[in-house]
Amino acid sequence: MAGRTPAGLSRKGQTHGPNGPERRAPAIVPRVVHDPGLFQTMYSTRALRRFKPDPVPDEVLFQLFDAAIRASSGQNAQDWRFIIIRDAKVKAQLREWAAEGWARYSARFGAPEDIARLPRNQRLSLNSVRDLALNLDKVPVIVAVLGMRNRHSTPGGSTFPAVQNFQLAARALGLGSSIFNLPLREPLYEMLGVPENNQIYCLIPLGYPTDKQGPVNRKPVRSVVYDGSFGAPWQFAQEQPDEGWEERWLDV
Ligand SMILES: Cc1cc2nc3c(=O)[nH]c(=O)nc-3n(C[C@H](O)[C@H](O)[C@H](O)COP(=O)(O)O)c2cc1C
Repeated sequence: MAGRTPAGLSRKGQTHGPNGPERRAPAIVPRVVHDPGLFQTMYSTRALRRFKPDPVPDEVLFQLFDAAIRASSGQNAQDWRFIIIRDAKVKAQLREWAAEGWARYSARFGAPEDIARLPRNQRLSLNSVRDLALNLDKVPVIVAVLGMRNRHSTPGGSTFPAVQNFQLAARALGLGSSIFNLPLREPLYEMLGVPENNQIYCLIPLGYPTDKQGPVNRKPVRSVVYDGSFGAPWQFAQEQPDEGWEERWLDV
């Protein structure tokens, strides 16, 4: 279609400022390597915690944020705010807090030898948390996601839809991410100049992953969806096999 970019976004180059028409640079749209489709994306977007050192280009970051801000929010307030953290000193501080957090969190599983004896999925997941914590300073970008304090009746409910859009968009553009709150500490507010009426809801380390995407393993629908009242089984779901649903959407 004439006047549209390769990703299907229109080039609106012209706008009207106080002094008449202004020309804005046309949109720089990242090349979509392979957009896997909505269901495949949802069924395969894992928490990825190991990254190549390659930087994330600004046009890619912009696209992720532009997807994030398409999410819904209470009263359409759109009061989410995002801070791109690339500063080496801030990342080094976050790494220190994350390492502390990891030491405390991992202690509940015992010594490293005990973690090595855990069931495979749990062990791999914990190892990836450890690797992210101890290498957080080397992650190309960490995004802090903020929302207003005490404005919405469901705290976080007006922020996390944007986080999900961001993570799905990242996966579609070949990046990996995870929510990572281990390094969240009060002094981060001052370091990032966050005003008092804002809350940091989560941190999202982001980069080109070295690990593979999904499939993601989750409890089946029948064990989390009730029919009519809490705990009442939904007959249709009870009759569904646990296997087979994800294969419809994944290249397996
Ligand atoms: C609100 C929230 C907070 C989270 N905090 C952390 C965290 O602090 N550290 C971490 O490693 N993962 C964190 N995660 C990611 C989850 O642990 C991860 O998505 C979950 O274990 C499923 O992993 P999978 O998607 O790879 O299957 C968080 C996720 C959410 C939604």
